[in-house]
Amino acid sequence: MFNVNKVRGDFPMFRNNPDLIYFDNAATTLKPQPVIDAVTDFYTKHTSNVHRGDYGIAVTNDRLYDGARKSFARLIHCEPDEIAYTHNVTQSLNEVAYAMQHTFLKPGDVVLTTKAEHASCLLPWFRMEKEYGIRVEYIPTDGEARISIDDFKKALHPGVKAVCVAQMTNVLGSVQPIREMTKAAHAAGAYMIVDGAQSVPHLPVDVKDLDVDFLCFSVHKMCGPSGVGILYGKKELLDRMDPQMLGGDMNARFEDDGSMILKETPVKFEAGTPNIEGVIGAAAAADYLLSLGMDNIEAYEMELRRYFCEKMLKLDNVVLYNPDNEHGPIDFNVKDPKSGKMIFAQDAAGYLAAKNVAVRSGNHCAKILHHIIGTDQTVRASLYFYNTKEEVDRAVQVISEVSLENAVGIFF
Ligand code: ALA
Repeated sequence: MFNVNKVRGDFPMFRNNPDLIYFDNAATTLKPQPVIDAVTDFYTKHTSNVHRGDYGIAVTNDRLYDGARKSFARLIHCEPDEIAYTHNVTQSLNEVAYAMQHTFLKPGDVVLTTKAEHASCLLPWFRMEKEYGIRVEYIPTDGEARISIDDFKKALHPGVKAVCVAQMTNVLGSVQPIREMTKAAHAAGAYMIVDGAQSVPHLPVDVKDLDVDFLCFSVHKMCGPSGVGILYGKKELLDRMDPQMLGGDMNARFEDDGSMILKETPVKFEAGTPNIEGVIGAAAAADYLLSLGMDNIEAYEMELRRYFCEKMLKLDNVVLYNPDNEHGPIDFNVKDPKSGKMIFAQDAAGYLAAKNVAVRSGNHCAKILHHIIGTDQTVRASLYFYNTKEEVDRAVQVISEVSLENAVGIFF
């Protein structure tokens, strides 16, 4: 296990904000020095484009940019050429949906998902439903948005041709039984598409073991720079797909008659100048997480979350929406101690902010989750491996103090 105090020393944000309790890690994470150094070195020592220049620095960047695929291959256990860079998990999921429409599905086919998903896991399918005639159906979940394998098997039918769910949901932290679901989906003839935005940063994920067809995630949620997403796909599937974006670098040749030959997977998915420094920083982030050990990260966070939940359950003024989940954010609302009225989540978050506790409030982009938890306004505290029990103690103390009197309107 790593030493959390030593680990915190790697993050300049803590030195520069000594009073800040950063519990908004599901939105984005802080960056360690090796990631900052990798990006800064690109700007100060070896700036160039990639795949275009015939000089030393450009060749160095080609090596770093393409070499970063190896770090991600180690992280999720795949081949480097099964890793395509996008700009975020949203673009990765849209790329898969585009391929589903243009290559893999036909009108009338059903895509299974849940009501707990983030917008990026739902809206591409909603558009395909309107424009292409696929049908979206929902897998039932329990009150903490967990899918049981029995319910999933019941939801499968011969019309289902794709399943798209988060491995860990972004509000309630429900971890779905992806391996068993994938086995059942494949047996039913459906592709398995997984949103790994909240799982890959927090747990060991092995795509070979899970056997998923696609896994999409963003590196800014795993200590890396913003603006880089990963699209993992099985090589034979990526090879069959047409990219959404066409342009420079991704083509091998084109002619004035409109013919074109694209480069091979994964470069065909990377049209235009990519976020080179972001990708180089992303590799530093993946290497950093691997050096801590994804098993260690998961174990540490589970213990911290349990500690947080136990303390929250002792507070009379808190409604907790996901005490039984073992991973991910803690989602709650606060009641006024005098009147018992629920305090608007953004007001509660505003009071926490005034006391240096950073959390997110609202619907967290999961805008149909209210069908499961009965509210579209919650406060979300999301932890990472650099958070501590002392921070949890301070945050819980602040949460215990929230009232209509001290919180209403504080945000504005
Ligand atoms: N998807 C990110 C979140 O859940 C931004 O907060």
